[in-house]
Amino acid sequence: MSRPSSPPDRPAPPTSPADGVHVVVGAGGAVGRLVVAHLSAAGLRVRAVTRDGRDVGTPGVEAVAADAADGAALTAACRGAVAVHHCVMPPFLRWTRDFPALTDALIDAASAVGARLVYADDTWMYGRVRAPMTEDTPWRPVSSRGVLRAWLAERMLHAAAAGRLQVSIARAGELYGPGVRSLIAGNVFGPALRGRPVHWVGDPDLPLTPTFVDDFARTVAVLGTTDTSDAAVWHVPHPAPTTGRALAAEACRQAGTRLWLLRHGTTRFRAVGRVVPIVREGAELVYQFEQPFVVDGSRAARSFGLTPTSYEEGVRRTLSALRTPSADRPDAARAVAEASA
Ligand SMILES: NC(=O)c1ccc[n+]([C@@H]2O[C@H](COP(=O)([O-])OP(=O)(O)OC[C@H]3O[C@@H](n4cnc5c(N)ncnc54)[C@H](OP(=O)(O)O)[C@@H]3O)[C@@H](O)[C@H]2O)c1
Repeated sequence: MSRPSSPPDRPAPPTSPADGVHVVVGAGGAVGRLVVAHLSAAGLRVRAVTRDGRDVGTPGVEAVAADAADGAALTAACRGAVAVHHCVMPPFLRWTRDFPALTDALIDAASAVGARLVYADDTWMYGRVRAPMTEDTPWRPVSSRGVLRAWLAERMLHAAAAGRLQVSIARAGELYGPGVRSLIAGNVFGPALRGRPVHWVGDPDLPLTPTFVDDFARTVAVLGTTDTSDAAVWHVPHPAPTTGRALAAEACRQAGTRLWLLRHGTTRFRAVGRVVPIVREGAELVYQFEQPFVVDGSRAARSFGLTPTSYEEGVRRTLSALRTPSADRPDAARAVAEASA
C-alpha cells in the first residue's frame, strides 16, 4: 500500500493562527478528553464535539453536540476550525458499518472549512512484524480491522494528495491509562489493584510498548498545532520497551499486591469467542501479543520535542485514577495540569 513521504526530522514552526479554533470530535472519549485538555492548557480556543454536547472535564471550552455521521451537523460544528482532531471510535462491533462513513464525513468537514485533519490511529495496518514498527513499516494487515484502518488512513492521505486538505496521522500502540478501554487496560490494572489474577493474552515476555493515553493525546494535540507537512504519519513516542509481565509486576508492586499472572493463548481466546461475540471479533488481533509489539516514536520525539511518560509514572497515574470514584472518566484538565506540574 502507498505511504506518505517521510516527514522532516526537524522541529517545525507553529502554523495555527491564534484565532483559529481547534475542534475535537469524539471529545468525550479517553483520548479526546485529554486532547481537549492539552489544547486548552496551551492557551488555544477549543471546541469539544460530542454526540450530546456534554462537559468533557476541561473548564472554558466550547461544547457542541453533533454526530460525526451527520455531515451537515459536523461541518457546522467545525466552522472556523484551524484543525479538526478525529478522536471518534464507534463501538467495536460496529466498526465496519460506522467508521468509513464518519471518517469520510470528517474529511469532508475539515476540507470544507479549510482545516488540517489530525487522526488518532492505531498500528493494526502493519500486521505481522518482527522489528519495531516505524512510520516506514509497510502496511500488510492480517486482520479485518487492520484492513479497515489501512483503508481509512488511505482515504485521508488520498484526499490530502488531491489537495483537499492537510492530514496528520498519529499512531499509538495498545493504550493504557485513565478511562481507557483496551485489552491491557482492562486485564492488568483493576485486577492488580484488587490482588486478583492478571489475565494476559499472548506471550507476556515479549518486548512491548503500551502507549500511555496522555502521550497519545499530547502527540495528537502537538500535530494539530505544529505539523507543517501536507500529509504525514507520526508514531507516538514511547519509553524503551517493557514486557507484559514487567508492566503487570509494576502495577502489583505499586498496588501492594502479589503478581498472579495467567497466560492465555489464541486457542483459549477463540474457545471463549464461541460464546462471547466481542471476544470472537477480538481474536483476530491476538497476533499482536504473539510477536514483539514495539512502536518506535523517535521521529516525533525528535521533531516535536516530546518526552514519553515512564511506565512507572503511567502505572502510578492509572492506579490513582482507578482508586477515585470518578475513575472511568477522570477530570481531564486536572490530569494534564498535574502531569505538567
Ligand atoms: N483503545 C486503544 O487501545 C487504542 C489504541 C490505539 C488507537 N486508538 C484509537 O484512538 C481513537 C480514540 O479512541 P478512544 O480510546 O478514545 O475511544 P473511546 O474512549 O471509546 O471514545 C470514542 C469516542 O467516540 C465517540 N463516538 C462514537 N461514535 C460517534 C459518532 N458517530 N459521532 C460522534 N462521536 C462518536 C464516542 O462518543 P460517545 O461518548 O457519545 O459514545 C466516544 O466518546 C480511536 O480511533 C481508537 O481506535 C485506541
